[in-house]
Amino acid sequence: MTQPDQQAPDLAAELHALLERLDADLAAAHNAEEARAAAAKLLGKKGALTALQKKLGTLPAPERPAFGASLNRAKDDAASRLENRLTTLEREAFERSLSGPPLDPTLPPRGLPHGHAHPLMSTMHDIVDIFGRMGFQVAEGPEVEDDFHNFEALNFPPDHPARDMQDTLFVDAPGNLLMRTHTSPVQIRTMLAQQPPVRVVIPGAVYRHDDDATHSPRFFQVEGLLVDDHTTLADLKGCLTLFVQEFFGADVSVRFRASFFPFTEPSGEIDCRCVVCRGKGCRVCKGSGWLEILGCGMVDPAVFRHVGYDPEKWQGFAFGMGVDRLAMLRHGMSDIRLLYENDLRFLRQFQ
Ligand code: PHE
Repeated sequence: MTQPDQQAPDLAAELHALLERLDADLAAAHNAEEARAAAAKLLGKKGALTALQKKLGTLPAPERPAFGASLNRAKDDAASRLENRLTTLEREAFERSLSGPPLDPTLPPRGLPHGHAHPLMSTMHDIVDIFGRMGFQVAEGPEVEDDFHNFEALNFPPDHPARDMQDTLFVDAPGNLLMRTHTSPVQIRTMLAQQPPVRVVIPGAVYRHDDDATHSPRFFQVEGLLVDDHTTLADLKGCLTLFVQEFFGADVSVRFRASFFPFTEPSGEIDCRCVVCRGKGCRVCKGSGWLEILGCGMVDPAVFRHVGYDPEKWQGFAFGMGVDRLAMLRHGMSDIRLLYENDLRFLRQFQ
């Protein structure tokens, strides 16, 4: 009968000491993880309270209820002390998170970095825009063409020497496919698809067997075609002079020069003062002081016949310009290859 008397005070003291130690451990915990670890020392599978519970069966039956009740109280106590500590830690962490620099919701957002158009594309856009203001609409066509649209309908007979200047990649297969050498085939496609009046500009890539400081094997053109009744060479000159002045400014010197294209008659070219040497003669203008920017002329009646327009009723003019050349002139570049190397140090200058 002495054992139960001794057991009771021992147990109470032991439980008290365990809870005291838990309090100390919880107070020392810096975060939820440490707090839970401290509580597990009592409540976990290998915890002190769990170990005591296992001793329950070794006690005489009459003592078990009181021992069990004390243990349960101690467990509840330990669990609620853990909960309290977790709540406090959470609140403290929240308060710490608020104590940083104050948020200012009125600040404007930081800008996202964004790209910009390539100088060739912005030049092409500006050219199209100028003609757009004169009432021209945009038309486009395929870069892989056939002989009919690229040459034949444009009045280049099969063995005509004018084809030599426009050597390109030919596909050795039925259909006579080739990489188009100019945007002029879209003149044909446009006229086959619609009746006059016509007023289109045609931007796009073209391909030729050329590669030097001023020629790239792939380059860009903007073509123009106007068909109406009473159209004259004066309309062509007026329209293109206005274009040059809009593009370069009213003070740029240009010259009209007679030329030849199979699909225009008469034909001409417009040259611009070389911006690199200002007319003295250099590598870019090949010593002439002038740079060709554009070919033009009155639509040849033979072309109208190919597309079924009556040449007695309709007249028109056409032009085709090199976008690369115009971009180089505008920015004073001396080598066309800069436009195709994609060196960001170069391209970023045109932001
Ligand atoms: N297609 C010609 C070329 O690429 C340019 C041109 C277009 C000339 C329209 C006259 C009329 O050389």
